[in-house]
This record gives sequence, structure tokens and C-alpha cells, in this order.
Amino acid sequence: MLTIYSSPLQGFTDYRFRNAFQRFFGGIDQYIAPYIRVNGKLEIKPANHRDILPENNRTVDLIPQIITKDADEFLFVAKYVQKIGYTELNWNLGCPYPMIAGRGMGSGLLSMPGKIDEILTRVCAETDIHVSVKMRLGYESSKEIFHVLPVLERYRLANITIHPRIGKQLYRGEVDLKAFEECLRQSSHKIIYNGDITSIGSFREMKERFPTINHWMIGRGLIADPFLPAMIKEDNPVHPENRYEVFNSFHEALSSSYEETLSGQKHLLMKMYSFWEYFIQSFPHSPKGLKKIKKARNLSLYRAVVKQIINNETDNSALHIA
Ligand SMILES: Cc1cc2nc3c(=O)[nH]c(=O)nc-3n(C[C@H](O)[C@H](O)[C@H](O)COP(=O)(O)O)c2cc1C
Repeated sequence: MLTIYSSPLQGFTDYRFRNAFQRFFGGIDQYIAPYIRVNGKLEIKPANHRDILPENNRTVDLIPQIITKDADEFLFVAKYVQKIGYTELNWNLGCPYPMIAGRGMGSGLLSMPGKIDEILTRVCAETDIHVSVKMRLGYESSKEIFHVLPVLERYRLANITIHPRIGKQLYRGEVDLKAFEECLRQSSHKIIYNGDITSIGSFREMKERFPTINHWMIGRGLIADPFLPAMIKEDNPVHPENRYEVFNSFHEALSSSYEETLSGQKHLLMKMYSFWEYFIQSFPHSPKGLKKIKKARNLSLYRAVVKQIINNETDNSALHIA
């Protein structure tokens, strides 16, 4: 059966987003939470705690994620998530940002298969939590993964998600599908493909290229077009007729959920602007929409711009149909 995972996007896919997404769009089998980083202190930040607390995630199936290069940290977080009811912890071996990778975490750990081995040995010996891994091809070179996969073969993992870029690329350039294909040959784990699925078309191309893959993870694409996962699930290239009505209700639910927590209009406007950097891709009839959102100085101006952007789109699709 085809399964779709929601990629963790720090700053975007927190529990408020996940619940609103699930309510209006669905199509997601499992959500991976943005990573928990404890930074040597062995304590969980309140924001991380709130984000994965089961009572804040009643509507979704959630897997927490950790970023670390330390077995004690891993074990500490594993114990904590188990205590609140989770049975799986995803290990981030993909984060490309120099502040993280430069410290040997995320994709910065991929050049150290021995260290990955050491950590997994202790984790598997000292806890019964299921471990899954989310990784890139490497940091400096896409050859790094081919030293890591044999290590991962030695452990029982729930799955491995591969985003076929290297850390140095950040999000630039192409995904390396040849290298991904080679990974499929070299791993017996359940593999999830992740990267640049932004439309039914790009999903179908990928599915054709990798017919044995049944597990897909989508990040930025599902913010840009929140209908995408459900459309993929239904193999339906057509958006629902009430697309913009549904989007409008989702947007209202999301922004009022953030309004409850963010202090002051400025913070809320900044938060919503960061979403609009993706949302705007669903609104081709408002080429200046993002600029207008950035310029909106208060909530009522912001709401007026959003209304205009949504109206532009509904008016134009109505014209199209007529
Ligand atoms: C703003 C942003 C935040 C991200 N945060 C995380 C994270 O917390 N954990 C993680 O494993 N990946 C994170 N990623 C990587 C995504 O989960 C995903 O692997 C990447 O965006 C490629 O998938 P996509 O092309 O479908 O977006 C982040 C990416 C972006 C752009």
C-alpha cells in the first residue's frame, strides 16, 4: 500500500500546522515531528515537549525526531518519548546547515560511519525503541552513504528515508536519482523516498522511475499545495472544486491557532509570511501577492490581502470553467 509521510520542517510543521492540515486536507499516513536537540544538557525544551505531547497530536500519527551525535543524548530522548507513549524515534542524519553539520550532527555525521555504528550499538542494546533514520547521501560527497548503508544493514530499523542530495548542496541543484537507485540495491531496509515532490506530475515521474518504492515523504510540496498528498493517494490529478474555499478555512484555522500563542501581531504576521512563501505557489494569479503580504503592517491589512489573493484565484478559475 502506498504510504505518504509528512517531512519535518522546523518552523512549519509543528502541532498547530499538523492538526490544521489533517483537519482540512489529510492524505498523510504519518507525520515526522521537527527534530529535538538537547545539546548536552539532557533536558527537553518546553517547545519540543508541547510539540510532541500526545494530547496536542490527537488527530495525527506522529513520530518524534532527534538530532544528535551522542548515544547518551539519544538514550535520554528515547526514554522521554517512550514515557509519553511513543514507540519510535527518527534519527536526523540529513540536516545540511553548517551550524549543525559542522558540529558533526545531521548530514555532518554521514562521513563517520564508525560513530553511527557506535551510537546504534548502544541504542539497540539499551532501549527497545524502534529507530528509523532520515538521511542525505552525504555532506561533502554522495559516496559517503555507501559506507553508512552497510552499517545500517546490521541493525533492525523501522525504515530509512533518503533525500538524495548532499549537505553541501543545501536545497540547490538536482536530486541524484542514480545514487538513490544504487542505495535501493544496497539496502534491505524499508526505504522512503524524499525530495522535490511538488505535483502529481513529479510524483508520477518518480513512481515510474522507482516502481518498487511505495513510501514517499513530502515536505515543502505539501505546504505549497496542501491538496497534494490526498490527490496522490487518490491518483487524481484534479483539485477539488472548492479548493480555495477549503484553503481559506485552513488558513483561518492555522492563523487563529498561531494567534493563541504568538505574542503580538508582528510575530503572527512574520509566521504567516513564512507560510506564504510556500502557499503563494498555489496562487499564480497574484504575482505580487507575497510582496503585499510582506507589506501588510497589521492583521486587518493582512486579512484583506489574503482575501484578495484568494478571490483573484477563485474569480480566475470561475472564468476558466465558464
Ligand atoms: C525550513 C526547513 C526545515 C527543515 N527541518 C527539518 C527537520 O527538522 N528535520 C528533518 O529531518 N528535515 C528537515 N528539513 C528537511 C525536510 O524534511 C526534507 O527532507 C527536505 O525539505 C526535502 O524534501 P522536500 O523536497 O519534499 O521538501 C527541513 C527543510 C526545510 C526547508
